[in-house]
Parts: sequence; C-alpha cells; structure tokens
Amino acid sequence: MQPITLTRFLIEQQRRENSACPAELRLLIETVARACKTVTHAISKGALGDVLGSLGSENVQGEVQKKLDVIANEILLDANEWGGHLAAMASEEMETIHRIPNRYPKGEYLMLFDPIDGSSNIDVDLSVGTIFSVLRAPEDASGRDVTEEDFLQPGTEQVAAGYAIYGPQTLLVLSLGDGVYEFTLDREMGAWRMTDGPLKIPSGNREVAINMARRAQWSPAIRRYIDERVGCESGPLAGEYNMRWTGSMVADIHRILKRGGVFLYPADHRSPGKARLRLLYEANPMSYLIEQAGGKAIDGRERIMEAQPIGLHQRIGVALGDPHEVDALLDHVVA
Ligand code: AHG
Ligand code: MN
Ligand code: MN
Repeated sequence: MQPITLTRFLIEQQRRENSACPAELRLLIETVARACKTVTHAISKGALGDVLGSLGSENVQGEVQKKLDVIANEILLDANEWGGHLAAMASEEMETIHRIPNRYPKGEYLMLFDPIDGSSNIDVDLSVGTIFSVLRAPEDASGRDVTEEDFLQPGTEQVAAGYAIYGPQTLLVLSLGDGVYEFTLDREMGAWRMTDGPLKIPSGNREVAINMARRAQWSPAIRRYIDERVGCESGPLAGEYNMRWTGSMVADIHRILKRGGVFLYPADHRSPGKARLRLLYEANPMSYLIEQAGGKAIDGRERIMEAQPIGLHQRIGVALGDPHEVDALLDHVVA
C-alpha cells in the first residue's frame, strides 16, 4: 500500500479530538506545500530555466539576492495571497510585511518564511530549502490592518512550522505541535506522501555542524566545547567526533532530525546582536521542529523560542539538536 498523502494526514489531524489543526490551518499548510512544489520545479530547471545566478539587487539585510531567492519569494506570496487563510506574510527577502490585498478574503494566521535557505548553494547543485513559521494574528487584529509588531511573537506561539528541502529527493518536514512528520514528493502523482515520523532525534551521534572559519568570533565557552570535540589531539573526546557543514541550515537540520548530532551558529560574543541566522525565519521554526523531535534549541544560553523578538529581521545565535550535546554546551557556558 502507498504511504498516506499529506492531504489525508492533515484531514486525520483535523478530525482528532481536541485537534490543534482547524480546517483553516490545514488548508494553509496545503497551500504552502503546493507552493513548494512550484519552487522545486523552478529549481530543478537550473540553467535551462535561466534561474541560476544573482540579480543586481540586495535584500533589506544587504545580502546579494539570487534569482531564485526572488522567484521563490514571489511563488510563496502568490500562492498564499488568494488562499484566504492569512492576514499577512513576512519574508527574509522583503523589508516589511506583506498584507493580504483587499481583493482577497483574509484569514487569522500570519506566516513568516525564508523562501530559499542556503542560497549560496543553488548554483553548485547542493541542497537548499524553504523554511516557514505560522503564528496566529493577535485577537485585536481583526478589523484593523496587521502591523509588523503583530509578528513579533516568541517562538512558543507558533502553531505550525516546517521546511521543504530540495535535495536528491524533495521533502516536506512539518509539525503542527504534535510530532514531526516527513513527506516525500511523489512526482508522478504530484502528491506528498508520508515517509517518516514522528521523528525522534537519534541520541549519541557524534556529529557537529559549525562554520569553523568563524572561530575568532566564538565565546570562550563555545571554543572549549568545539575544541574538545573536533581537531584536538588529546582529551577524552579526541577523535570521537565528525564534522559536517553544508552551508544550508535546512540540510544540516534535516540530517540532525534523521541522524542526530548538533548544529551551532553562535553569535559574535563581542557584539551579541551580531549573528548570522534570523530569529523569525530560521531559528524559531527550526527550534520548534527540533523540540518537537525531542531535541533542545538555545541561543547559547536561553531557550530560543522564549526570546521576545524586537525586530522582523533580528538575528540570533543558535545551538540546536541532540539534547545531551546542548546540555554539554550549557555546562561549558556556566562553568
Ligand atoms: P540564507 O541562504 O537564507 O541567507 O541562509 C543561509 C544560512 C544558513 O542556511 C546556513 O547555515 C548559513 O547561512 C551559512 O552561512 P555561512 O556562509 O557562514 O556558511
Ligand atoms: Mn536562510
Ligand atoms: Mn534565504
């Protein structure tokens, strides 16, 4: 028998007693999943579809935009605009929020997304992905325009989060607050089929993902934690750990969900606001998935999902994955 489809999974979630998946959320997820199919189609055309390379433009964060950053952003906006389930969207690639135009019905949800994560990998045919996070619009937002402040909710308020990964297979990994499930795109049928879940991070896999080139910016605690594990000649953990770094957070997090290990992108310890990854588009949705799969996610000290956001494009240090590794890191921080 074929594995069940995403559609069936979502309907079954909705039917469950005390379901946290009302019809509106189910249809919103279906819309996002549909958009990700369009994105994977665009990506896989590569040079033949003239989708590779950079545009002359920069995004609000001063990063050069790849053609696919902009294409995927448009695909996600278009697909979700008319769906009727959202009040507004925010994206890494847009300076401010995108309200649903008046010609379309509005819903009660807010969505934030990173249209292409790992975009430096697009042109060399490595895995990239789309990350999304769903919040409820504040109750007092009905009847008025949604504002940027409405999006500044801690990660604990997320009602769903997930990513699509465009790799050797195209997958959708998703949580609605009750476990993490993986769906593989069945290209012949055009359907997403459940291929794994509920995912539980396997314990004890000694793999670390970190960009070693930034060592000079790490705090002494992070340095000690990494130095004990990677590249050292002596000590109890010498030679025990392997290093993996793809440059695409989706790919590294997917590996951790499936195989274990830990992912770190520390903030610059001399100016803590200076970090690489974005709280609302990357750190919060990934933390939600990692915690739902039994892992831990901290900014170096505190739980990421409890951070009160102060800006749409705010960045934050991250350490997430196997709870034993995150605890070991915390031991170094307090030591
Ligand atoms: P994005 O492509 O959305 O800007 O995100 C890239 C992120 C993340 O995917 C990855 O872990 C990290 O940036 C890579 O950073 P380095 O350039 O330090 O490798
Ligand atoms: Mn990203
Ligand atoms: Mn991106």
